[in-house]
Amino acid sequence: MNMNVEDQLSRPLRDLRISIMDKCNFRCTYCMPKEIFGKDYVFMKEEELLTFGEIVQTANQFAALGVNKLRITGGEPLLRKNVEELIQELNQIEGIDDIALTTNGVMLPKLAKSLKEAGLKRVNVSLDALDTTVFQEMSGRATKADVVLRGIDAALEAGLGVKVNMVVKRGLNEQEVVPMAKYCKDRGVMLRFIEFMDVGQTNGWGYSKVVSKKELHTLVSEIGPLQPVDHYYFGEVASRYQYEGSDVQVGFISSVTETFCGTCTRARLSADGKVFTCLFSESGTDLKEDLRAGQSDAFIKEKIKTIWENRSDRYSELRTAESSKNRKKIEMSYIGG
Ligand code: GTP
Ligand code: 5AD
Ligand code: SF4
Ligand code: SF4
Repeated sequence: MNMNVEDQLSRPLRDLRISIMDKCNFRCTYCMPKEIFGKDYVFMKEEELLTFGEIVQTANQFAALGVNKLRITGGEPLLRKNVEELIQELNQIEGIDDIALTTNGVMLPKLAKSLKEAGLKRVNVSLDALDTTVFQEMSGRATKADVVLRGIDAALEAGLGVKVNMVVKRGLNEQEVVPMAKYCKDRGVMLRFIEFMDVGQTNGWGYSKVVSKKELHTLVSEIGPLQPVDHYYFGEVASRYQYEGSDVQVGFISSVTETFCGTCTRARLSADGKVFTCLFSESGTDLKEDLRAGQSDAFIKEKIKTIWENRSDRYSELRTAESSKNRKKIEMSYIGG
């Protein structure tokens, strides 16, 4: 029987975001540092990554503490070999009723079908622009947006649920908001606009670069009036709206202007086996050493329980321009969003 644990602010543990790879084939400037403190950014070595067995063992203990939803992230998780095998194993865990994955979409034409067969339910695909120049500027690579669009089509064809994530950064891709909304509406896919966040140490964040949910809502309303829709699950980060006279939805993830820490039920496991209780944490608690020392499931479970029970994070609620600068936050590509 799975139990419930609550943190210091009475928030239950419900979701686990598992990063399986810190590398990525894109270099979005808002996510991945080129260098850090003057040195080239160093990625994890193969032996530092948790094995699939270790990930499954850990996820089992999270499920025993009330987690019912798993999300696989990166870097780019589809760059890890045989990721379908991991999905298949995670799918066997008692109490897990949703397995999703966040991806840049490039590998989906190749992998969508086998991911679906392995038990994956849905993918969130990151895409910040349709225009080639803007897309390349955002992603830091020469790949065209068409490649991602083909990935989205492949996922739909395979029967996976698909949502598109678009980070909006002032001065870079605001002009793509309406074209992206129209494209996704025509495809029947939910597009979610994400306010640019101050993750990591090098993404040059400032309030002036954030396009707020309010502004985005006004822009999208050009296409047609929007009606609010209830959250699909407790703690969902996106607020949902529906185009009048259509069943297509759009969402807004407003972690800067309308924070949602009060319902944050998410724990994060990094690819090298550390547990983080907030996207903006400065450090995590290592489990890899315990796993490799052969500690029992009961030990691992108790350790996770203590981490959650001590948690009081609510970074987005407390954020100021000052705190954003002074805090040594871990990188987005490391923690997977
Ligand atoms: P669904 O299960 O489809 O609702 O996915 P999701 O929105 O929880 O996950 P996804 O990986 O698609 O993340 C979308 C955006 O929300 C990314 O920019 C994440 O960094 C951000 N996000 C997710 N969880 C949190 C959170 O706990 N805090 C903050 N501040 N942002 C979050
Ligand atoms: N602010 C907001 N969202 C971000 N993402 C990456 N970096 C940032 C940031 N600085 C998004 C990605 C992806 C998700 C996991 O997080 O675009 O969709
Ligand atoms: Fe890669 Fe996603 Fe980060 Fe872009 S946002 S660099 S696609 S992990
Ligand atoms: Fe949760 Fe931290 Fe995000 Fe707040 S800022 S919603 S506590 S991860």
